[in-house]
Amino acid sequence: MEHNQLVCEDARVLANEGVGPRLFVVSLESPRIAARLQPGQFVHLQVPGMPDHILRRPFSVFDCDPQAGTLDILYQDLGYGSHRMTDLCAGDVASQIGPVGHGWQAPTGTERALLIGGGVGAAPLFLHAKALLAAGVAVDVVLGAATKAALATYDAYTALLGHAPVVATDDGSFGFSGFCTQPAADLLAAHAYDHVACCGPEPLMRIVAQMAADAQVECQVSMERRMACGVGACLSCVVDTTDGKRRACVDGPVFESSKVVW
Ligand SMILES: Cc1cc2nc3c(=O)[nH]c(=O)nc-3n(C[C@H](O)[C@H](O)[C@H](O)COP(=O)(O)OP(=O)(O)OC[C@H]3O[C@@H](n4cnc5c(N)ncnc54)[C@H](O)[C@@H]3O)c2cc1C
Ligand code: FES
Repeated sequence: MEHNQLVCEDARVLANEGVGPRLFVVSLESPRIAARLQPGQFVHLQVPGMPDHILRRPFSVFDCDPQAGTLDILYQDLGYGSHRMTDLCAGDVASQIGPVGHGWQAPTGTERALLIGGGVGAAPLFLHAKALLAAGVAVDVVLGAATKAALATYDAYTALLGHAPVVATDDGSFGFSGFCTQPAADLLAAHAYDHVACCGPEPLMRIVAQMAADAQVECQVSMERRMACGVGACLSCVVDTTDGKRRACVDGPVFESSKVVW
């Protein structure tokens, strides 16, 4: 995605609802960004009501309807900005820059893909799953969360796939008891995949990257970094890769996992 396709748009809040412990989905009317967005790209959001905080916050797009001109963000109430987001009400306006960065790109000819999302990392994989399914690719999804209540995307994935995704919870309250790396490893051993995509905490992505390398399957990860400018100018978001230092905001956030220096 080239910079000249970036748009700065005042997005109108349509809804903002709690979907789990400290988890919310905000739905935004943002037709110009929705029309341009590719799966895995993100928006840089100026949270309203923060005059003393000028920096935007990066959020992946969970779902998007280009026809309706809307997009959804699944976010965690984690700090100052995301906590202020929980106050957003229908009719409020938030400035967004987007779509930012390079998203997922499954290799040409992919027939079966494995998508692994940990925590809110499940969000940026949803549009990827949608696009792969629309292209006739068989898609297996593994979701990991701390608890059953934190599996905020479970119903959406179930509706999309036509069956439930494979689930792991840290506390064993639903699905496999433990980290989602185990069911992911089981699936990797059971099927011939052409493509693995993973988003979540960095330790999860590092393990998945190694598992995919061992299974000789192409793998992409979405790297989270603190971001200041979001347009490639400040270098606050650098990722070490085998090609040198790369900016997560414009060179990523999706990288080939084999190129990331973990
Ligand atoms: C490309 C990208 C996509 C993202 N997508 C999502 C998403 O879909 N849903 C979601 O809930 N979050 C997502 N994040 C993380 C989100 O940007 C941060 O949670 C948010 O900026 C925190 O802002 P804050 O003001 O609430 O936190 P602050 O008060 O600034 O910080 C609170 C805590 O959050 C940590 N933090 C702040 N910024 C980041 C960051 N960029 N990455 C990791 N930790 C951070 C801080 O270290 C601190 O521990 C994404 C981040 C990136 C880079
Ligand atoms: S956030 Fe400034 S270069 Fe990436």
